Amino acid sequence: MKALTWHGKRDVRIDTVPDPAIEQPTDAIVRVTSTGLCGSDLHLYEVLGPFLGEGDILGHEPMGIVEEVGSEVSNLSPGDRVVVPFNISCGHCFMCGHGLQSQCETTQVLEQGSGAALFGYTKLYGQVPGGQAELLRVPQAQYGPIKVPQGPADDRFLFLSDVLPTAWQAVAYANVPNGGSVAVIGLGPIGEMACRVAQHLGAGQVIGLDLVPDRLSRSRGHGVETIDVDAVDDPAQTVRELTDGRGPDAVIDAVGMEAHGAPFGKMAHTLAGLMPDAVAKKVMLTAGVDRLAALNLAIEIVRRGGTVSVSGVYGGTADPLNMLQMFDKQITLRMGQANVRRWVDDLLPLLSGDEDPLGVDTFATHHVPLSEAPQAYATFQKKEDGAFKVVFRP
Ligand SMILES: NC(=O)c1ccc[n+]([C@@H]2O[C@H](COP(=O)([O-])OP(=O)(O)OC[C@H]3O[C@@H](n4cnc5c(N)ncnc54)[C@H](O)[C@@H]3O)[C@@H](O)[C@H]2O)c1
Ligand SMILES: [Zn+2]
Ligand SMILES: [Zn+2]
Repeated sequence: MKALTWHGKRDVRIDTVPDPAIEQPTDAIVRVTSTGLCGSDLHLYEVLGPFLGEGDILGHEPMGIVEEVGSEVSNLSPGDRVVVPFNISCGHCFMCGHGLQSQCETTQVLEQGSGAALFGYTKLYGQVPGGQAELLRVPQAQYGPIKVPQGPADDRFLFLSDVLPTAWQAVAYANVPNGGSVAVIGLGPIGEMACRVAQHLGAGQVIGLDLVPDRLSRSRGHGVETIDVDAVDDPAQTVRELTDGRGPDAVIDAVGMEAHGAPFGKMAHTLAGLMPDAVAKKVMLTAGVDRLAALNLAIEIVRRGGTVSVSGVYGGTADPLNMLQMFDKQITLRMGQANVRRWVDDLLPLLSGDEDPLGVDTFATHHVPLSEAPQAYATFQKKEDGAFKVVFRP
């Protein structure tokens, strides 16, 4: 089969690789029909190289048609249409029972001290072959894949794999009071969808911050009050002026470790990039390597007693955070990978009618054949050509 594989920093290729096969009785094989490119893939493309192996298949936002199931998969049959959550979870352990599927105890990557295994996401998360490929082996298929109806185009359901549950969890964890205010930092797919979910769930005021003009105007088109962080002197002050001088009830960080405008982390990333892999790995796992501009801004602008909900991915273990401010302001901080399965029952009804309240049918900006994925990675990383959400069609 053809698959998108990692070969080095900013070097991904389409290779011909062996077809996957059923290895465990709980596996399924899915023929992928659509598969998303994610901001999380950009971390692999840029900084997480030390944790990848040459030839690793990337991608964690797939959907498609079941081709084959293992003997213990009784809920799926060949021909079923399924969306595959980006985290691999069993459905029967303590963590899955508590709605913490991203911490699944059956698939936790113990030797790395990590949570649940993820598709296409480094040795830290199990080095499981990913979904930017023609075929995908899905472990724990007795629980993970979400069956969706035939009929609507793939984009109606595709974002159940990651964007929708991640945005939903970001808002749920933000604990926005009914009619209250929330600021969302980063208006990529996750941040923009979080704005839409917050509006849908009854937030009274949604403020979005970014620096890419077409992303700001896209969110403005959905009724978000936007701030260009590069165009104002003090984004925190600008947000306070919009929120009675107090700051919003909640702030969502939808940027993560590669925030623009964070010089120290940028240097650490660059240095790590120049080191031999073994050394860089150690440095990344023991040092503060994240670019913390977005998280620091979140802590600064949230109102006293408010909540900061972090969906942007961070990876350093010794990042300097402003504990004085966090403690003094009595901030609640919640974060983590999305527990995809936990939010599916909330989301599916919103994808079932004609109304499309979250606007998923028109969410993607680019549909490209998988063969053109390497170019799409480059365009998406540079945020050129209006690339907002790219979907590959294997
Ligand atoms: N928690 C999860 O389960 C989960 C799931 C999916 C994605 N993510 C993470 O969420 C983050 C966002 O994902 P995405 O797909 O939307 O990525 P993206 O890269 O498309 O979007 C990030 C946005 O942040 C903006 N930005 C950068 N620096 C900023 C700053 N200092 N202030 C304001 N805006 C800034 C960028 O211009 C961009 O529009 C990434 O870190 C991704 O890894 C987490
Ligand atoms: Zn993703
Ligand atoms: Zn589990």
